[in-house]
Amino acid sequence: MPDLTLTGLAKSFGANTVLHDLDLHVEDGELFTLLGPSGCGKSTTLWSIAGLHSPDSGRIAFGDRVVFDGARVDVPPEKRNCGVVFQSYAVWPHLTVLDNVAYPLKLRKVPRRDRARRVEEVLELVELGGLEDRYPHELSGGQQQRVALARALAHPPDLLLLDEPFSNLDAKLRERARDWLRILQQRIGVTTVFVTHDQDEALSMSDRIMVMDGGRVRQVGSPEEIYHEPADEFVADFIGTVNVLGAHVPAGADRSQVWVEGLGQPLAVSPAAPAEGDVRLAIRPERIVVHPSGAPAATPNAVTVKVRSQAFLGDHYRYVVALGDHELVVRTLSRIDHGTELTVELPPEAIRTYAAQA
Ligand SMILES: Nc1ncnc2c1ncn2[C@@H]1O[C@H](COP(=O)(O)OP(=O)(O)OP(=O)(O)O)[C@@H](O)[C@H]1O
Ligand SMILES: [Mg+2]
Repeated sequence: MPDLTLTGLAKSFGANTVLHDLDLHVEDGELFTLLGPSGCGKSTTLWSIAGLHSPDSGRIAFGDRVVFDGARVDVPPEKRNCGVVFQSYAVWPHLTVLDNVAYPLKLRKVPRRDRARRVEEVLELVELGGLEDRYPHELSGGQQQRVALARALAHPPDLLLLDEPFSNLDAKLRERARDWLRILQQRIGVTTVFVTHDQDEALSMSDRIMVMDGGRVRQVGSPEEIYHEPADEFVADFIGTVNVLGAHVPAGADRSQVWVEGLGQPLAVSPAAPAEGDVRLAIRPERIVVHPSGAPAATPNAVTVKVRSQAFLGDHYRYVVALGDHELVVRTLSRIDHGTELTVELPPEAIRTYAAQA
């Protein structure tokens, strides 16, 4: 299977620039996810790869094969050999499962006997054997998505491109579909670009994730890197739950200590803050240690805080506490019988600091 390289891809719709010189590289056999808020350019990127949009400039290559290069090369979609699954119009309602899946093979004039064999093979692969004669309305949502996937795989694609393929499934089905797709993708080893705005989906399925915002790349990394080492406040805030507070480093002071407004003690941070002056401090709730009966002496960043509210969420408890003039979300696995005060510890290495945006 080829790898995929996008170089300097740019696309505008009228005055609206949707992709700004986008670069990305997807390794052979990788499941690579484009993640970002609505309108950030995920689908535009995917459609450009499939050949359904012509970018204004830049280059797209599948392995050594250049499929787009500015005005010079623009290989039409049917010659790019991508298997594509979209969220909407996933399957044709007037065709049976068999005819849906056989369609791309018919289009490529694959002889009838080979066609039948391949359809059977691919329906087995997506675990839909025996449902050949059903129409889409006689299938569940999850089964319909699998028909769409079978169709995308029928003529073995060089690249599999999936645009929010599970978004119309309910939560339980979606979780099953993720696991199932991940196993299938690894088995057939097809290089895959997956689009979603769902962070859980991205974290649980991907080899690597690219976080996009406003047509630009914010960060590319493994799910763990993106979650634990977010490159900036946007990424930290977009993935998972995070406390973000304004803080300050006095001029000329040691940048391994920051001051939070209203808090009478500095907080040690590791690594040190990137700049003097105003900074932003980020810490995930699950990294904050709660000491119901006070922290041991010399615990760094132990702070006594007032509890503002408490909620039970099934697998954990969530507390909102006051840290100086700010609120902080804290989690515990078991209930804490406390008064209105708690000691929390913010381990310096669990704190990330970012330069405040001007
Ligand atoms: N055919 C088009 N004509 C004009 N503007 C478009 C067109 N397609 C997309 N856009 C605009 O380009 C921007 C990016 O759209 P895109 O569909 O790539 O976003 P997305 O990241 O896939 O969002 P979502 O998560 O909502 O699907 C949006 O501002 C959108 O309005
Ligand atoms: Mg989209």
